[in-house]
Amino acid sequence: MPVITNIEDLRQIYERRVPRMFYDYAESGSWTEQTFRANTTDFADILLRQRIAVDMSNRTTASQMIGQNVAMPVGLAPVGMTGMQSADGEIKAARAAEKFGVPYILSTMSICSIEDVAENTTKPFWMQVYTLKDDDFMQRLFDRAKAARCSAAVITVDLQVLGQRHKDIKNGLSAPPKLTPRSVANMMTKAHWGLGMLGTKRRFFGNIVGHAKGVSDPGSLSSWTAEAFDLALDWDRIRQYRKMWDGPLIIKGIIDPRDALEALNVGADAIIVSNHGGRQLDGALSSIRALPAILDAVGDKIEVHLDSGIRSGQDVLKAIAMGAKGTYIGRAYIYGLGAMGEAGVTRALEVIHKELDVSMAFCGHRTIENVDRDILMIPKDFSDRWQ
Ligand code: GLV
Repeated sequence: MPVITNIEDLRQIYERRVPRMFYDYAESGSWTEQTFRANTTDFADILLRQRIAVDMSNRTTASQMIGQNVAMPVGLAPVGMTGMQSADGEIKAARAAEKFGVPYILSTMSICSIEDVAENTTKPFWMQVYTLKDDDFMQRLFDRAKAARCSAAVITVDLQVLGQRHKDIKNGLSAPPKLTPRSVANMMTKAHWGLGMLGTKRRFFGNIVGHAKGVSDPGSLSSWTAEAFDLALDWDRIRQYRKMWDGPLIIKGIIDPRDALEALNVGADAIIVSNHGGRQLDGALSSIRALPAILDAVGDKIEVHLDSGIRSGQDVLKAIAMGAKGTYIGRAYIYGLGAMGEAGVTRALEVIHKELDVSMAFCGHRTIENVDRDILMIPKDFSDRWQ
């Protein structure tokens, strides 16, 4: 096994080991991918201020997200079809997260079901919920999450319509996937992945098939998904979801301060500043650039978290120093999962943890809670370059 020292190492192995259609699914942004790229390059626009001769002993990255103890303020973001990146991928990722002591968020569009993940883990995970038209399905999803002891619900509010990712269309990646001869030929070259897939029964959307009305087999899934998402979603509807779930609630997919204020009014416990990893509105602000205005609007009244663009512990440190109380990685752990299964997710978490810990020390801090904007050098027009 090659020596893995950073997230890019994992991405390169992942690219070789996983069929192209699933690699492309994870590695794409929408349309021109401008926002997808800006999510990472805008982090590089912020610099860190190094200090010396400061006591760096007894450091810890331990912190809290929505009142829950975390080994570092980095959760695993919900990623659709994780179980196609590696057999039983959601179970592997959830296990790696629980051993590391960070939150795992299971996607509604997962391959392993809520119950599957609960049976194969020992600590509560968080459940991501899409905003779908079918109220019964929504209530059942919340009830199933409760029964599985999920300790938070994460409602994704930025996917009423889907941003177009060119490669997914060309690869025939729909729900369920329509295999093209090229995809099949490519899959045949991925022996490790294929053996894993042959060894599991979990190959379809476990939370949907057999649970949504009219979806009893994977074939009926595509007509259901085309119909299922709630185009008419509004804040009254989100208020109803607040009533369907009595545990901690996080609203994910906010990029504008006005929407952050609405989320506050609905009674959410936290919001996630996110542009869905650059997969929805191409041309939207990167999440790190959107963060300051959102913090100014609601930062002292609600926990503000951030995803989209984090590939290193330095990125985590920048978001936390800016004022986020938590961050999430998506692609960074999917690379690890596709490269090496559960061990790869653990490796991704170890890499990020070490980068965070050592960079925090370089900036003169020993705890996450003491990190603040003072360690950042931010361009003067960083958050208001565009009016
Ligand atoms: C769904 O959440 C996607 O981004 O593909």
